Amino acid sequence: MKIKVGVIFGGETVEHEVSIISAVQAMGQINQEKYDVIPIYISKDRTWYTGKMLMEMDVYKDFETLKRYAKKVTLVKKDNGFFLTKVDGLFKRDVEELDVVLPIVHGKGAEDGSLAGLLDSVGIPYAGPKMLGAALGQDKVVMKQVMASCGLPIVDYTWFYDAEYLSDSANILKDIKKIGYPVIVKPANLGSSVGINVVKKEKDIEKAIEEAIKYDNKIVVEKMVDNLVEVNQAVLGNYETQELSAIAEMLTNNDFLTYEDKYIGNGKKTGGKKVSAKGSGNMSNSAMNIPAKLDKTIEKKINELSLETFRALNLRGVARIDYLIDKKSKKVYINEPNTIPGSLSFYMFKALGKNYTELLDDLITMTIKDYKDEHKKTTSFETNILSTYNGSKGVKGKMKI
Ligand SMILES: Nc1ncnc2c1ncn2[C@@H]1O[C@H](COP(=O)(O)OP(=O)(O)O)[C@@H](O)[C@H]1O
Ligand SMILES: [Mg+2]
Repeated sequence: MKIKVGVIFGGETVEHEVSIISAVQAMGQINQEKYDVIPIYISKDRTWYTGKMLMEMDVYKDFETLKRYAKKVTLVKKDNGFFLTKVDGLFKRDVEELDVVLPIVHGKGAEDGSLAGLLDSVGIPYAGPKMLGAALGQDKVVMKQVMASCGLPIVDYTWFYDAEYLSDSANILKDIKKIGYPVIVKPANLGSSVGINVVKKEKDIEKAIEEAIKYDNKIVVEKMVDNLVEVNQAVLGNYETQELSAIAEMLTNNDFLTYEDKYIGNGKKTGGKKVSAKGSGNMSNSAMNIPAKLDKTIEKKINELSLETFRALNLRGVARIDYLIDKKSKKVYINEPNTIPGSLSFYMFKALGKNYTELLDDLITMTIKDYKDEHKKTTSFETNILSTYNGSKGVKGKMKI
C-alpha cells in the first residue's frame, strides 16, 4: 500500500503564489511508486480544496474554475485515521484518507506556526518545524534574541513597536544613530523583502520607518553589512540527526535582494558565473553560484553555524539558513532562517548528489519516524482524575491549590 501524502500549500499570506509554485513543483517530484500525492490547497480566503487537478500549475490562473471543480474539504481525525471530508453538498463524505502531510507554505499566517499548531491539534504527522521553531523563524526580533543568547553572530540591531515610535520617536532615532548608518529597516514579521528599505543617511530614516509600519506593528532596524556577500545553506534533519546542503552564493546588483530578484528577475546582469533560476530550478530569476566560492575557514564556520542555528531555533524538516558576510573583514553574520524554504532548497542538496525526489523521500520518512518516536513517550497518565471529581468541592481530598 502506498503512503498517502497530503501536500498543503497556499494560505492567506503575501507569499501565497510562491507557495503554489513550490508545492506544484514538489508534487511533481514525489516518488509516485511509493507515495500517493494528495494536493491540499488553501485559498486566500482560507478555504481548503482538494482534487488531483490541483497538481497542475494552469489551474491557478483561473480561480473561478478551480472553485467549481475542486472539492471544498476540511481535515478531521476519526477512529480509523485522518481524512479530508467534504464541507458542502448534500452528502458530506470523506474524499481522501491521509497518512502524513507535507506543508509547503511560506510566510505569516501559515509558515509561522499557525498551520503547525492546527496539524498538532488534529494529531496528524507533518513534516517541517513544529510551532515553536516555526514561530521563531518568523519573528525577526525574537529569532535574534534567541540566537544572541546562544552566542550566535548577528548584526547590531534595535527594534520597536509602531505605537512606541508614534509616541516617542526621538529616543528610537537616537538608538538607530548609535548603530550607525547605513541601516536597513524591516517589518519584523514579513518575508520576501516586502516593506524593507536601506537607509544611507539619517534624513531618510523616517520615511523608511513609515513604510515598514504599513506592513507590521513591530519594526527592526539593523546595521547594514558592508562589502556584502550573501550565502545560504540548507539543513535537512530533526533534533537527532542533520544533513547539510552545499552553500549557495546569491548574486544581485541591488543594495539587497529585492522581491524582484527573488521571484521576478529584472533583467539586470549580476556578473559572475551564475546559475539562472531555470537551470537551478529554484523558481526565481535570482542568480547564484553553487557551491559558493569561499575560503575554507569561512566554509567550515558556516557549516558549524548552520547546525547550531538549526538546533537553537528548534528547527526540523528542511530549513535554509541565510548569511551575510563582510568580504573585507571576513565576518560572518546569520541573517535569518527560512523554516520552509522556497523549493525546499532542493537545488542546494542536488549540488551534493541528492536529487529532489530523494530529498522528499528522506523528509517524509523522517516525519513518520519522528511521529512514531514521539508517540512512544508518555503523554498521559493512566488514572483519570475526573473520575473522582465531586462538583464544586473538587476532586475528593486531592485538590492541590
Ligand atoms: N543587515 C543587513 N545588511 C545588508 N543587507 C541586508 C541586511 N539585512 C538584509 N539584507 C538584505 O535584504 C534582503 C532581505 O532581508 P531579509 O532579512 O532576508 O528579509 P526577508 O525575510 O524579506 O527575506 C536580504 O536577502 C539581504 O539582501
Ligand atoms: Mg531573507
